[in-house]
Amino acid sequence: MTIVQAEHITKIFKEDSQSIPALSSVSIKIEEGSFVALSGPSGSGKTTLLNLIGCLDRPSQGTIHFDGEEITRLPQQKLAQLRRRKIGFIFQDYNLIPAFTAAENIEYVLWLQGISSADRRKRALEICERFGIQALIHRRPYEMSRGQQQRVAVARAIVHKPKIVLGDELTANLDHKTGTELMGFLKELNEKDRITFLYATHDPVMMKQANRIVTLQDGKITNEKTATQASF
Ligand SMILES: Nc1ncnc2c1ncn2[C@@H]1O[C@H](COP(=O)(O)OP(=O)(O)O)[C@@H](O)[C@H]1O
Ligand SMILES: [Mg+2]
Repeated sequence: MTIVQAEHITKIFKEDSQSIPALSSVSIKIEEGSFVALSGPSGSGKTTLLNLIGCLDRPSQGTIHFDGEEITRLPQQKLAQLRRRKIGFIFQDYNLIPAFTAAENIEYVLWLQGISSADRRKRALEICERFGIQALIHRRPYEMSRGQQQRVAVARAIVHKPKIVLGDELTANLDHKTGTELMGFLKELNEKDRITFLYATHDPVMMKQANRIVTLQDGKITNEKTATQASF
């Protein structure tokens, strides 16, 4: 099953009287259950592509199908709905809401979907038990270690059973050990639960975890490798 199919997408940003081409005719297909790294130097278009796939922005040209539905020209409100239901985000520095407890952070996305309070709590508890963080549910982010915050952030990204989880330079601010732990944890979820991940990174260590690496340069895909290729 294909989750995302982008065909010949181009994104041009207009700034003052200048046109800045961020992506030029990029085509990419993400299959369910894959663990894909998006690599490339700074300015190559990684974030722009993630934003288009994540329904945070729309392409200037080309088409995007998400979970079988063409989303290219959906109005903002519809895009937001789709984003809440079908996409999970893991942010750099986790971006947990400081005033919320772990449970409230995890439940937030369910609340946005209008799910009842009892149901929200049940689902948050289930995932916390699974992740071994049930003792933390009433703690706020500042009362948790980085590793604990990491688990809460991952729980929040997958609690609504998204079709795909996106991450942008997730490990950029993490030390090697914490970054490797995060990637290992995500890989485990990918293998056990078939959760589909797409993450931008320019860290070779993080790329190695992927079963496919897509490389961007100057807004174009210049290389693709899969885990079976020896030169990986
Ligand atoms: N909102 C924006 N307005 C204008 N230019 C942008 C905007 N976002 C990105 N760009 C430009 O698009 C290109 C790709 O940027 P980006 O997708 O952020 O690359 P990466 O994430 O690989 O560093 C860069 O030249 C960048 O300056
Ligand atoms: Mg970026």
